[in-house]
Amino acid sequence: MLPAAILAAQTSKPLHWDLVAPGVWRCQIGAADRTSLTKTAEAKPKTDRLKAMPSSEIPFELQATRGWASSSYASIQLPLTPAEKVFGLGMQMSGANRRGQIFHLQVDHYEAGHDRLHVPTPLYISDRGYAVLFNTIRPVNVYVGVGNRLDDPKTPKFRDRNTDPNWDAQPDSSAVEASVQASGMEVLVFAGPTPMDALCRYNLYSGGGAMPPLWALGFWHRMKSLSTADEVKEEVRGFEQRKIPLDVIGLEPGWQSRSYPGTMEWSPERFPDPKAFVAGLKKQGVRVNLWENPYVAPGSNLFQALTPRFGSHTVWLGAAPDIADPKAAEIIRKFHHDNHVALGVSGYKIDEVDGFDVWLWPDHAQFPSGLDGLPMRQIYGMLWQRELDRMYHQENRRTFGFVRGSNGGASRFPFALYSDTYDHHQYLTALTTSPLAGVLWCAEIRSANSSEEWVRRMQSAVLSPIAQLNAWDSGKKPWSYPDVLETVREAMELRQTLVPYLYTAFAQYSMKGIPPIRPMCLVDGGLETDQYMLGDNLLVAPVASGEKTRKVRLPSGDWYDYKTGKHVGSHETVVVAPKLDEIPMYVRGGSAIPTYKPKLHVADFALQETYRLRCYGQGPWHGTIYDDDRETFFFEKGAYILAKVTVAGSEATAEKIEGNWPVLPGRMSVEKM
Ligand code: GAL
Repeated sequence: MLPAAILAAQTSKPLHWDLVAPGVWRCQIGAADRTSLTKTAEAKPKTDRLKAMPSSEIPFELQATRGWASSSYASIQLPLTPAEKVFGLGMQMSGANRRGQIFHLQVDHYEAGHDRLHVPTPLYISDRGYAVLFNTIRPVNVYVGVGNRLDDPKTPKFRDRNTDPNWDAQPDSSAVEASVQASGMEVLVFAGPTPMDALCRYNLYSGGGAMPPLWALGFWHRMKSLSTADEVKEEVRGFEQRKIPLDVIGLEPGWQSRSYPGTMEWSPERFPDPKAFVAGLKKQGVRVNLWENPYVAPGSNLFQALTPRFGSHTVWLGAAPDIADPKAAEIIRKFHHDNHVALGVSGYKIDEVDGFDVWLWPDHAQFPSGLDGLPMRQIYGMLWQRELDRMYHQENRRTFGFVRGSNGGASRFPFALYSDTYDHHQYLTALTTSPLAGVLWCAEIRSANSSEEWVRRMQSAVLSPIAQLNAWDSGKKPWSYPDVLETVREAMELRQTLVPYLYTAFAQYSMKGIPPIRPMCLVDGGLETDQYMLGDNLLVAPVASGEKTRKVRLPSGDWYDYKTGKHVGSHETVVVAPKLDEIPMYVRGGSAIPTYKPKLHVADFALQETYRLRCYGQGPWHGTIYDDDRETFFFEKGAYILAKVTVAGSEATAEKIEGNWPVLPGRMSVEKM
C-alpha cells in the first residue's frame, strides 16, 4: 500500500464533461491552450446531421475518467475493457489494432517503425463504438493498454519471474493514457453506437468530409519536373491519340521560375504564356494542378509581399510564411488567386509540410503570430489547406488537391495524402486505413520494375480516392509499358465508369461523414488492411505487385464479381488467383451500381448523361445516386439531389431522399450482370 501522501498526489478529481454537440462530449484538463486542432481547422460541426444520427451513449462512465495537470504535462486516463480493440492513432502504414502499443504522435514523413507520420491525428476509435480525440496541436503521447499505475485497482495478477513462465515484461493495462507537454489539453469523446458511427461523428464534428468537383474523380497525370508548356501539350496529345482518359495535368517544381525555395511564379522560359496554356488545356477537358512547397525564395515578389511575416528559421534557405497570421494568409491567398487561380488553375499539391526538424525548422523556432516551431510543424499542412480552401470557396469553385502532411479536424479540406515511400503493401494499408485518421490516402503510381508491377500499381491507383500517375521523376506515361497498354487502359476506363458511384460515395462523406474508403475494422470488425469497402456496395481487394493469389474475406451477404457478375461466395474467406487484367472487386448482391459509359474526360459527362445501373444477384436491386452542378458550392445551400434508385424487372425508378433538385438529371438504363 502506498503512503497516503503519495496516493493523494496521484489521485485527481473526476473530470468534468460537457455535451458540446449531439453525441460529442468535451473535457478540459488543466488550462486551455491557445488553440486546438479543431479550432485550427475552423471546424464547423454539422449539428443537424449529428442530431439525425441514432442516439447513443458512451459505453463507459465519463465521470470515471481521470486527468492530471502539472506545470509541464497534462494527461488523461480513459478505461479499456480486456478484449477491447483500438484503431487509428494517425495514418499508419501497418496493422489495424493499436492495443499494446505506445505512440508519440508527431508530423514527419513516414518511415516504417517510428510513429512520426504524415498525419499523426491523435484520434482513436474503439471497437466498442466510441472515439476519442486529443484535441491539441502539440505532439501527443498515447499508451494503449500499456503502463500500470500503482493505484490501479485493476492491475493484472502479479507474477514471479523466478518461477512463472508467463511473466510478462509489459503487463496489459486497463486504460488508455495520453499526455501532452503543456499546461492543458482538450479531449473530445464521440459516441457511436457503432465504431463507424463514432468516426462519422468525428468527421461531422470537423465539418463533414470534403466534396470534390466531379472532374477530380477522373485521371490525374503529373509531368516530369522540368517539362515545358509545349512538352505538356505534346503529352496531352499522346493521351488523346491513344484514347486514354485524362482529367488533370499536375505540374511539378519546374513550372516555377525557381524552386526549393520557390517563387511560386511561372517560369518565363518553360511557361511563357501561362494564361493561354491553362485555358487551352481546359478547352480540351484537362485541368491544371500546381506543385508547391511553401518556402519562399528571397527576392521573389511573394517574399517582398510577405516580409516580415516569416518564421525565424529558413527551409532550404527559403522563408517559411507565418500562415497562422491572418494578414499573411490574406497575402498568400491574393497572390495565389492573382497568379494562378484567376488563370484557371484548379488546385495545388502542397509538398514538404510533413518535415521533422531535419527538414523544416527546430522546435524552438518562432513565428510572429506567437507559435513555436514544434506546434507549428504539427499544423502547418493544415493551415495551408485551410487558406487555399478558403480562397476557392471565395471563388465559389470547388478544388481538389494533394498534401503531404495534415492532422486532426481536417476532414473537410479537399486534399488527399501521398508520400515519397513506395512499398506497395504499405500503400495499400495507408489506402485502406487512412480514414481512421480522418483523411484519404492515394496509392499513386510512379514507376515499375516490370509490366506486371505497372498494371498492379495502376489498378490500386484507379481504386484510390484520387487516381494519379506521378511521373515527376520517372517521366513515365500510361503507355510506357506497351505490352500491357490495353490492360492499363481498361483499369483507367474502369475509373471513369465508376465516377457517378464515387461521386455519391463522396457526397455521403460530406453529408454523413462516412468515408468513401471504408476500413474493414469499421465495416464489420475485420482486421484486414489489404481490402476495403469502396462506397456502400463494392468490396475491393487489390493485388500487390508480385502476388499471384490472395485471400479475400467476404462480409455477410452474397458477393458477385464486378466484371463477370458471377457469384463468388457469401460470408466466407475465398482464395482468388486473378489474371493480370483482373482486379478482385466484388459487389454486394441486390445492389445497383450507378456507372457511366467511359469517356476520355470527366468534363465530357453531360449533366443529362445516362446512368447505367449494373445490377448484381437477385432483384429487386437498390442503389443511391447523388448529383449537383459538379463545380460550385451551391450544393451547400441545397442545390443537389440524393435519390434512392430501385430496379424491378427491367424498370428503374428514382425516389428523392433529400435535396432541392426535383429529379435526377440523367436517365437510367439497366444492365443485369
Ligand atoms: C517530393 C514529392 C514528389 C515530387 C517531388 C518534386 O517531395 O514527394 O511527389 O513532387 O518532391 O521535387
